[in-house]
Amino acid sequence: MDLGLAERYLDFAEFARLDSPSFAAWAEGVAHDPEVQGWLADLPAIKQQPNLVFAAARWHGAETPAAYDELRRVLFGQEDAVKATIRERATQTNEVGRLATLVPAFAAVPGPLALIEVGASAGLTLFPDRYDYSWPPLGELVGSGGPRLTARAEGPVPIPAAHPEVAWRGGCDLNPLDVTDDDAMAWLRTLVWPEQADRLARLEAAVEVARREPPYIVRGDLLAELPGLLAEAGRHGTPVVFHSAVIAYLESDQRDEFAATMGDLVAAGECRWVSNEAPSVLPGVASTVPAERLVGRFVLGLDGRAVGWTHGHGHALGWL
Ligand SMILES: C[S@@+](CC[C@H](N)C(=O)[O-])C[C@H]1O[C@@H](n2cnc3c(N)ncnc32)[C@H](O)[C@@H]1O
Repeated sequence: MDLGLAERYLDFAEFARLDSPSFAAWAEGVAHDPEVQGWLADLPAIKQQPNLVFAAARWHGAETPAAYDELRRVLFGQEDAVKATIRERATQTNEVGRLATLVPAFAAVPGPLALIEVGASAGLTLFPDRYDYSWPPLGELVGSGGPRLTARAEGPVPIPAAHPEVAWRGGCDLNPLDVTDDDAMAWLRTLVWPEQADRLARLEAAVEVARREPPYIVRGDLLAELPGLLAEAGRHGTPVVFHSAVIAYLESDQRDEFAATMGDLVAAGECRWVSNEAPSVLPGVASTVPAERLVGRFVLGLDGRAVGWTHGHGHALGWL
C-alpha cells in the first residue's frame, strides 16, 4: 500500500469534513482502498490530488453527493476517459464572494479606478460595481442591480456609501479562463465541492455578470505582465493592483520580489495596492496585526499595510 498517497487522502478527508461530507467520505475510502491507490499509481504525483481526481470523476458522471461506491463505479468503469481528463486539466478556482471583503478597501481609493487584478483566473472579481453587498450587522450597499454578496462584519468596517467607479478593468493569469467558453466554465463549476450549493450559485451568477462584458485578462506571469498593465490602466484612472489567494503560488524569492516591487510602485505614486492573502505569504503586510486575530484568516492590506482580516472565501471581514 502507498502510505504517502493514503496519508494525503486522509489529510484531505479532514480538510473537507465540514464543507463536503461526501468528498470526505470519498477521500477516506481511497485512503483505505489499495485497489484505487493502484489505479492512481501511474499518474504523476501532482495529478493524484483528491480535488482533481474527484472533479474528473464527476465530469464523467459520478453523481454527488453520494457514497464512496459511486467514485469506484466511475473510476473503474471509465478509467481511460477519467485519466485523460486528469492529465489534461488542472484545478482552478475563482471566488467572487471575496469582493465583499475587497470593496471597503477599494472604497478608500478616490475614483475613478483602473482595476488590475493579478492572478485573475476568470476575472470574476473584476466587477465590484456590479454587485450589492451586505455586511451584517453594520450595513449594506445596494443599487447595482446585480447579485448580493454577504460578509459578516467584525469591528469598525468602513461601509462604503457608493459603489466604486470603475473606469477600466483588466488583469493577468498564468492560465486565464474565458468566461464565454462553456467548457471552461463547466469545468470551473465541477471544481466546486458537492455540498457547496451557495458557492455554486454564486459562481453561476458571477459568470453571467462577467459574460455581459468579458474581462480583459492577459496570459502570463504577474511579475512580467504588471508593467504593461499599469501603463494601460494609468490612462483611464487611478491604477489599483489587487490580488486574492495568488501570492502563495509564487516561490519565496518571487514573493519577496513582488512585495518589494509593489512597495516601490506605491511609494512612487504609480498605483495603489489591495492585497488579500494568507498571513505567511506577505509577512510585511501581516506584521502589524496581532497574530491571534489571523488564525485561519487572510490579511487585507492597503498599500502594504494591514487594514483588516478576511475569511478566505469572503464570508467575514474584520477591520483594525
Ligand atoms: C486560487 S486562484 C485565485 C483566483 C482569484 N484571484 C480569486 O480570488 O478567486 C489563484 C490564481 O492565481 C493564478 N496564478 C498563480 N501563479 C501566478 C503567477 N505567477 N502569475 C499569474 N497568475 C498566477 C492561478 O493560475 C490561479 O488562477
